[in-house]
Amino acid sequence: MSVREGCSPVFRLAVLVSGSGSNLQVIIDRLHGKVAGIEVVAVFSNAPGVLALERAERADIPSAVFPLEDHDDRESRDLAMAAAIESAKADLVVLAGYMHTLTRVFLERFPHRVINLHPALLPSFPGTDGIGDAIRYGVKFTGVTVHFVDEGTDSGPIIRQEPLPVHDDDTAASLATRIHALEHRLLPRVIELVALGRVTPPPQGSRLVRVDDSQPSQIQW
Ligand code: GRF
Repeated sequence: MSVREGCSPVFRLAVLVSGSGSNLQVIIDRLHGKVAGIEVVAVFSNAPGVLALERAERADIPSAVFPLEDHDDRESRDLAMAAAIESAKADLVVLAGYMHTLTRVFLERFPHRVINLHPALLPSFPGTDGIGDAIRYGVKFTGVTVHFVDEGTDSGPIIRQEPLPVHDDDTAASLATRIHALEHRLLPRVIELVALGRVTPPPQGSRLVRVDDSQPSQIQW
């Protein structure tokens, strides 16, 4: 956590996005400048022109685009983005609908400081279509996962999960509506818990993340 001189402690978030940014909007509306000293200090996207960037602009949050095409390879793109995150002095990097995997050169700069939101109960249905995959498989329950990011696809240690029933007449669209509503509650709470120091990353050789959820949330809904 960083401390701004003369002010209360600030917990600085960088949010990475690729698309509509509904989760970014919830972070802005419910956490930014309101809870646990949290400030969104930067929004970075791999894709230009996405709605998430407009949401950042409307909230006066600095943003930038890091398209893969502008760099020799993924590592050099990730290094450029890591440098921008370091200059923004982010305490935590939140992947909120960021659709590229991050390379080792990026992740080793932010150990246990990068979290991702996934629309399924991992380790079931990792990848880009967790909602559609759950429907096609015919599971009766799916859900939402927030986890630390490692080099794999949605494979890092799990911080928190919430289940959701799948109805017989659900389509990918109807299930997505309920998944997104659940995401919009779960992700801000996990960020609040991380900012308050209540999330303990796993020790070496373990995947067990400890979460102290004993205090009520300060988030106003
Ligand atoms: C969410 O469903 C998230 O789980 C997945 O991408 C989606 C992003 O939605 N990783 P939005 O851009 O926040 O609206």
